[in-house]
Formats: sequence, C-alpha cells, structure tokens
Amino acid sequence: MNAYTLIDGKAAAARVLVQVRKDVDSLREQDIQPALAVILVGCDPASQVYVRNKILRAEEVGIRSVEHRLSPDTSTAQLLNLIATLNADRSINGILLQLPLPAHMDELRALEAIAPDKDVDGFHSQNVGGLSQGRTVLAPCTPSGCLYLLEQTCGDLRGKHAVVIGRSNIVGKPMAALLLKADCSVTVLHSRSRDAQALCRQADIVIAAVGRPRLINASWLKPGAVVIDVGINRIDDAGRSRLVGDVDFDSALPHVAAITPVPGGVGPMTIAFLMKNTVTAALAQHQAQRSQSEAPCHSIY
Ligand code: GUN
Repeated sequence: MNAYTLIDGKAAAARVLVQVRKDVDSLREQDIQPALAVILVGCDPASQVYVRNKILRAEEVGIRSVEHRLSPDTSTAQLLNLIATLNADRSINGILLQLPLPAHMDELRALEAIAPDKDVDGFHSQNVGGLSQGRTVLAPCTPSGCLYLLEQTCGDLRGKHAVVIGRSNIVGKPMAALLLKADCSVTVLHSRSRDAQALCRQADIVIAAVGRPRLINASWLKPGAVVIDVGINRIDDAGRSRLVGDVDFDSALPHVAAITPVPGGVGPMTIAFLMKNTVTAALAQHQAQRSQSEAPCHSIY
C-alpha cells in the first residue's frame, strides 16, 4: 500500500495558536490588549457558524472580541458608518467583515473602507497590491494557513510546481501570490482553462479551491503530489448531510504523498491565521503610535 501523510490541520492550528497566545501575553505585559471587531450582516447559517468560531478562538487566546450583528436589510451607507467608527477606535486593532454580504450591498466598497492596518483579512487593495509585490503585509488567512501546512509538509518549496485551482480574491489569487513569494512555479487553473486535468497532473503541489464537491480525483494527480483541499461543500449523501472537499479523497489517497482531510484540514488554519494577523496588526499599530509620539517636534520659528 502507498504510504501517505494525512496533513493534520487541527494540530497545526493548535501549534500556531500556542504561539499567538504567548504573543498576546507578552503584549499584555506592555499594557496592550489586542482586540478584534467582527461584523456579520444578515443571517447566512454558514457565516454564523464561522463568526461564532472566530469569536470563541479569540477568547481562548486572550484577544478581546467585539461582535457587530447587523440586520439583513442594512444599507451600505450604514455599514460604512460602522466601519468608520471602528477605524477611528484606537482600542480596536482588527476589523473582520464576514463575507458574503447580502446581494444589495457593495462588498468591494465596504472592504476598501477598512483601514489597511486593521484589515486582518488582507482584502484591502493596499494589502493585495503589497502581497503581489512580494512585500510583507497582512495576507489573507486561508492561503496563509495553506502555505504554513505546505512548509510543514514539504520543507523547502523552492522550484516546486504548484497548481492552484480557482481564482477567487479570497483564496486562489492570494494563494498564487504567496506561492510565488515562496519561489514556486505557479499555474492558476479556472473554469475557462483548457486541458486543466493534464496541467494539474504536472503539479508537485495542488491547491483545490473551486467550490465543486469532489471534482479533483486521481486522474488529475501526479503520483506523489501534495494536495491541499480548501473546499468545504455540504452534500446530501444517501439522505445524510455531510461535508466534503473539492478533492475526491478516497480516489486521491493512493496517489498522493500527503493530503488534507475535510473537515480538519485547512478550516482550522483560517481561524488560527486570523488570530495571528490580529496580533501582528496590534503590534504594528502600537509601534507606529510609539514612533509618532517619539518623533521630534520641529518648531516653525
Ligand atoms: N467568508 C468565507 N471565507 C472568508 C474569509 O476568509 N474572511 C471573511 N471575512 N469572510 C469569509
């Protein structure tokens, strides 16, 4: 039988959170209390679960969380007002706007309204641009978590051929940017790609983020590939509802060197990196405030 590694996202996330907890403790010793504002508009059931988990995890690591639940008929202007208030509030270090927003709202405008230094999701164009230039910025949480799992599993990523399936702003595009920064050769496949299967079969690393249940089976994979499955799809399986990824796990397993399960793979990493980004943001804001207050005062006379 083929020997494969099951990549344990829960254990990896727990390791990241232990370090986050230590960082929060050391910030508190300097009288800095990291705080995260979480905004949920409407009552999408999956979003409600995600937000609850984010708030629980924040409490566990000592990050103060402030929840803002807005009704489904909230206007974009009302949301922008709340974001402006949170931007101006020095006690808030990170702002998370849970997506998707209700269809009538202007999602892009809302994301652009979040102060870039509080944008713990890394979705503001300033952070997106910085990431694409290879600068160290607040990077999106799910791709950051995937990269961490890859580094833990493969060690050196330099020169490896990574195929990212999916080109969303949340996962596919930032994932490609992070892999490029790690010196991988990167191919991005999407719904209009020709010969997607044949291209994917050349990959040392496959990141599946398409949102199509069990699309990627053994015929897409080179023997010995490392597979990260970002998909979380709820399906009806013989009358029972269950979660599956974008990868057909049972079909892929005999072909891979390593693979993430769903659930228990990438999911816990997203929240762990949200906590990490919140601490990074808190530290950066306090350093910026300190250097402002220490700057010499120049008299104009
Ligand atoms: N909805 C699905 N994934 C995400 C995410 O990573 N961040 C936010 N804000 N909303 C999401």
